[in-house]
Amino acid sequence: MANDVKVTIYFGPLSWFEQCVGKKKKEGLLEAVFAREENLRQLRVVLPEDSSNEDRSKPKRKRPKRLIAESGDYASLQEHAITNFPGLVQVHNPKELHLHNPPEQVHEHLKRIYSSTLEVVSYDYPAITRSTLVQFRDQFAQHLIGQENVKESLLAALYPLTRSARTKPVVIMFYGPSGVGKTETAKFINGLLGGALMRKQFSMFHNEKFASYLFGGGHSEPSFAHDLLDRESGVVLIDEFDKAASVFHSAFYQFFDGGVFQDKNYRVDVGRSLIICTSNYDSEKEIRDALGDALYSRFDALIKFDPLSKNEITAVIDRLVDVRFEALVADERQIVDATQVKEKLYPLALHPANVRKIGKITDELISTLLVRTLICQDPPLAENTDATDSSR
Ligand SMILES: Nc1ncnc2c1ncn2[C@@H]1O[C@H](COP(=O)(O)OP(=O)(O)O)[C@@H](O)[C@H]1O
Ligand SMILES: [Mg+2]
Repeated sequence: MANDVKVTIYFGPLSWFEQCVGKKKKEGLLEAVFAREENLRQLRVVLPEDSSNEDRSKPKRKRPKRLIAESGDYASLQEHAITNFPGLVQVHNPKELHLHNPPEQVHEHLKRIYSSTLEVVSYDYPAITRSTLVQFRDQFAQHLIGQENVKESLLAALYPLTRSARTKPVVIMFYGPSGVGKTETAKFINGLLGGALMRKQFSMFHNEKFASYLFGGGHSEPSFAHDLLDRESGVVLIDEFDKAASVFHSAFYQFFDGGVFQDKNYRVDVGRSLIICTSNYDSEKEIRDALGDALYSRFDALIKFDPLSKNEITAVIDRLVDVRFEALVADERQIVDATQVKEKLYPLALHPANVRKIGKITDELISTLLVRTLICQDPPLAENTDATDSSR
């Protein structure tokens, strides 16, 4: 069997991979595998008088020019196809094979067999430069209200990422109460770099699912390493890091040290990226006690977010309502009065715990007003529209 398959492996986001290869439908590796399985299932009856003509019993197959597999395709292959991937390649024998974010085992196997021709192409993730830091400093106040200390500490913490010789990530812990701008700050930095932010909320996993998510399970199960491979952004946001049980902490040692995350199936090196973890811890001491020295010492910076003052929450409300208003269409804007909505929401500033819900409450309030006027023809802002209900 010919070993002249030209194998190219791509590590990076799907949209980039699609641009690189410009795949046509008939070039899918999965389609080829399924078509072959279907073919093998067909029962062929060869009559004795036909047996002289062996060719008729075996339909001729042209060697495919290219076969292409995307990141999500490996999950549809059987485990044995993954463990013996070179066998699969030899059966299909394409001239070119293009693989996107393959499992590590597939990469290793192919590297051994096609050592002379295998090429690896990696996506250049957006990196933080000095000009990003200038933008960060100048635009911070447009995105975040208050949190001046955060701005200064973050600028210092991000600086090492501007060195092109750096090969490992900067790992930062944002801590403080809920609804004070931690996630918003991560989104703002990522916005300066571009690409959809990779955001994982650790509170969303139950323990046994979380173990397979972090350490790897079957090759078709979701995994953190695979998600990291597929990410588009230069920032990796691990939200609610404090919700991960301590048995999982060791999974992050190597990742925070050098940017390599490896599970049973996938391996990724995020290199010069920014990893932000958020938590509701109150102090550095609490972080150290909860995470242990080994993990605590792996953070390059711990940045404290302060509770917002009443005036700051009022400013958050103003900003949020203005943004929501801009998104309304012209006739809707005539019905709802922004000032009135803001005034309805201001009492929320008395209960800082409600800040997180301001967005949701604003949406509900605006929708209620629109529905009442456009559909029910009731007067807007009826007396019982109480946005300040702190039980929500
Ligand atoms: N300091 C702030 N400046 C501007 N908006 C804020 C601030 N704090 C919170 N918000 C708004 O409140 C909501 C929750 O903020 P978020 O950043 O998700 O909070 P957390 O600190 O819990 O991550 C978002 O809609 C955000 O826009
Ligand atoms: Mg958050």
